[in-house]
Amino acid sequence: MRFDTPATTNPIDQGKVVGQRIHRIDGPLKTTGRAVYAYEWHDPNTHYVYGYVVGSAIAKGRIGSMDVSAAKRAPGVLAVVTSDGIGDLKKGKYNTAKLFGGTEIQHYHQAIAVVVAETFEEARAAAALVKVDYAEEKGVFDLEATKDTAVKPKDGEPDSAAGDFDAAFETAAVKFDQTYTTPDQSHAMMEPHASIAAWNGDELTVWTSSQMIDWWRSDLATTVGIDKEKVQIMSPFIGGGFGCKLFLRADAVLAALAAREARRPVKVALPRPFLMNNTTHRPATIQRIRIGAERDGRITAIAHESWSGDLPGGGPEVAVQQTRLLYAGANRMTATRLATLDLPEGNAMRAPGEAPGMMALEIAIDEMAERLGLDPVDFRIINDTQVDPENPERPFSHRDLVGCLRTGAERFGWQDRTKQTATRREGSWLVGMGVASAFRNNLLVPSGARVRLDREGIVTVETDMTDIGTGSYTIIAQTAAEMLGVPVDKVAVSLGDSRFPVSSGSGGQFGGNCSTAGVYAACVKLREAVAQKLGFNSPDELTFAGGEVRVGDRRMPLAQAAGDEPLVAEDRIEFGKLGETHQQSTFGAHFVEVGVDVATGETRIRRMLAVCGAGRILNPITARSQVIGAMTMGVGGALSEELVVDKERGFFVNHDLAGYEVPVHADIPHQEVIFLDETDPMSSPMKAKGIAELGLCGVAAAVANAIYNATGIRVREYPITLDKLINELPEVS
Ligand code: MOS
Repeated sequence: MRFDTPATTNPIDQGKVVGQRIHRIDGPLKTTGRAVYAYEWHDPNTHYVYGYVVGSAIAKGRIGSMDVSAAKRAPGVLAVVTSDGIGDLKKGKYNTAKLFGGTEIQHYHQAIAVVVAETFEEARAAAALVKVDYAEEKGVFDLEATKDTAVKPKDGEPDSAAGDFDAAFETAAVKFDQTYTTPDQSHAMMEPHASIAAWNGDELTVWTSSQMIDWWRSDLATTVGIDKEKVQIMSPFIGGGFGCKLFLRADAVLAALAAREARRPVKVALPRPFLMNNTTHRPATIQRIRIGAERDGRITAIAHESWSGDLPGGGPEVAVQQTRLLYAGANRMTATRLATLDLPEGNAMRAPGEAPGMMALEIAIDEMAERLGLDPVDFRIINDTQVDPENPERPFSHRDLVGCLRTGAERFGWQDRTKQTATRREGSWLVGMGVASAFRNNLLVPSGARVRLDREGIVTVETDMTDIGTGSYTIIAQTAAEMLGVPVDKVAVSLGDSRFPVSSGSGGQFGGNCSTAGVYAACVKLREAVAQKLGFNSPDELTFAGGEVRVGDRRMPLAQAAGDEPLVAEDRIEFGKLGETHQQSTFGAHFVEVGVDVATGETRIRRMLAVCGAGRILNPITARSQVIGAMTMGVGGALSEELVVDKERGFFVNHDLAGYEVPVHADIPHQEVIFLDETDPMSSPMKAKGIAELGLCGVAAAVANAIYNATGIRVREYPITLDKLINELPEVS
């Protein structure tokens, strides 16, 4: 099905099930431990062995020699696989760094060997016996020091311009020019990477933890050197990803190679302290923002430049993305620059681009509002736009940023915010409020599904879509139930298996809208098949409800359409021009109240509210969970998360969850989420948009702005740790 014309009110989707508050259908499996994650697959008749990965101890250079003889002699060891033995592997399409290093080392903890043994402990012990002689080379690890060598990236965001920024900024009545930094961040999802690989002749099956089944399947085939058809990927349950599981990872490749060598199914997990340097991370940025405005607050000129680094062949963090679209202003420019660094690979982490971009932009907007003497909510509203500001012919499909800001201000009690900073004191706490807009683009990705109706009236949906904790199982079941007029408990959903039709996968907050639209398309086909089977010309003559098919006062069970053989339909949603003619984005507003300890500079979040305008909400329960999770991640970004770079040796020093601090329950107060009641007819037949990443974009800036309101201290370098506040705090009285 091609989605080309705006969705209208739709008789086959009346919101009886879609849009309802339905608890996760996979919840009982998860709470009782029966949802099987990658490392847990266990067939009692199979003898599994264990692989332990050896990572490079240098960031850049070459391997002179590797001595694996002691490791091979160690108890329980079955095989030691090094790139020495198998030569250089081909790199897949989606990775920048090699997942299994050759003699040349590209980054610290790049995998260079896997030791296979009968037990995990034996493999780990033997791995410590692998001796490597390195020829270390000097690498480049410091973004700040390398900034001036950064170039316009080949791929990624082009520079953008409209009007004449320089002239307009020069003559603006009020001007603002500041630079912000965001650090390298780690996804820190709950479940570390893990894979089990088993060969059956020349066929390879891998149980793993992947957001994008088809990307993994093709890249694993390329890397291991076999046909894609010979590879099966299984990933039905995933303990979080945030982008770290978008692309094939070393555990899957090494499990496959180890299983081939050891002739046994092999389990490989990447230990947490290993994966932060071995896998990808969100790259650090330096961002310069300039704003010029009239005295009444109307922006006349806005510029956003961003610098980040990556390995040779890598890409930039596109932190300027939102600035092209969020606020009005006739004269504008953005530029993205990329430096070459020898740190581990930088890549997508939840809301790549907008998440760090909004961290900077939304402090800048707060600073500019203050300079203009405007309330920061009003300043944002004054500069709202209903069209793409670079291309005024192009409207937004639906945009209610103003509604988000107004609703939030009212519900949060924004009028109680003290305009003067550092004036609200409660005991030892300086208390303040902050606001930021939320913005994230809505991406459209084709997605396929197969639906099957059996004679018991059970509808089974099969798609290679993944559920990374987001609620895919549930919203897909709701979609099929809605379309076929059956209760949700008559729908079975099977996900994360490469034998199923290729879906959008989970990424870029596109999975919810796109994968359900694919299921919608397949269900439209199944409705046609049902009508034909029951002797009608068109499903439009029929009402699908209550597990029945109804025409006038005739009723027959839906199951009647299935004979001895189930009725099967498959289709795929493809998105036409509506994504080009209309700018599709999601909007929101974040409000935060903080307390900062006047003596220690410790920041505590006291209240948080997010108001989101993101099209139709497919399930308010799972959508809310996405948003409160994202708000929590935003607090981490504001206050604690930073991969600390060793600029001499070139690695992330704090590479475990003891040193890389994410918020815990005690850090997070009650959070509130409000969804505006809206639909977006341009986004898909579901009229939904992305929600998961929107919840993150802007949060950290709202926290930073609240800290400023509480203390009068403006920190422009994330994270806002207490050492950055303590010397500036007002005298304790
Ligand atoms: Mo998201 S960074 O596209 O998983």
